[in-house]
Amino acid sequence: MGVQISPSILSADFARLADAAASVANADWLHVDVMDNHFVPNLTLGLPVVESLLPASPIPLDCHLMIEDPDRWAPAYAEAGAQSVTFHVEAAHAPIRLARQLRSLGARAGMALKPATPIEPYEDILSELDMVLVMTVEPGFGGQKFLDVCLPKVRRTRELVSKHGLELWIQVDGGISPETIERCAEAGADVFVAGSAVYRADDPARVVDELRRLAEG
Ligand code: DX5
Ligand code: ZN
Repeated sequence: MGVQISPSILSADFARLADAAASVANADWLHVDVMDNHFVPNLTLGLPVVESLLPASPIPLDCHLMIEDPDRWAPAYAEAGAQSVTFHVEAAHAPIRLARQLRSLGARAGMALKPATPIEPYEDILSELDMVLVMTVEPGFGGQKFLDVCLPKVRRTRELVSKHGLELWIQVDGGISPETIERCAEAGADVFVAGSAVYRADDPARVVDELRRLAEG
């Protein structure tokens, strides 16, 4: 599939989400950060906003659920038509069952890891997933500094994916910018989330192109 860019609307103007989506029509995905004030200390948006955004976005939605009990709440995002739904493994009670459910509803199933969560315990369930999201900041807020300590995990995830001959994508999220994206690509990531780098720029689409060019190397 090659390099994919997924701008995060967390850094966009929440009163103009349709414009935010339209401004990055050259990206592959629109990253939507759902936060519940329990799994992370911040509250953003939920299913009603995703339902409204789906028909308004020129590109598919990449929903990143930073919520407790995704087993209960995540399937509704797939039912609504979100093309990719990512849950945090730290919060999931039955990640295999949840991933199967998301896939059966027609969504790509993603599993996210906070910076201190290792990938090794999940080697055997990688075949149940379409994407692993390696967080490169502590989830909860945009505009944080990229954590270099997460790069070895990107590398190990890529090794495991190769070892098992899987098609799975590896996403990085947090502090991704023209300064950090090449390190992530070199470590084996292929889907890149960027919030503040894209939406705090005068021309978001230009940053999307720049990030893609840098990641493609
Ligand atoms: C943080 C979110 C990210 C956030 C990234 O918890 O998951 O998607 O929007 O923002 P930047 O790119 O500014 O670090
Ligand atoms: Zn995110």
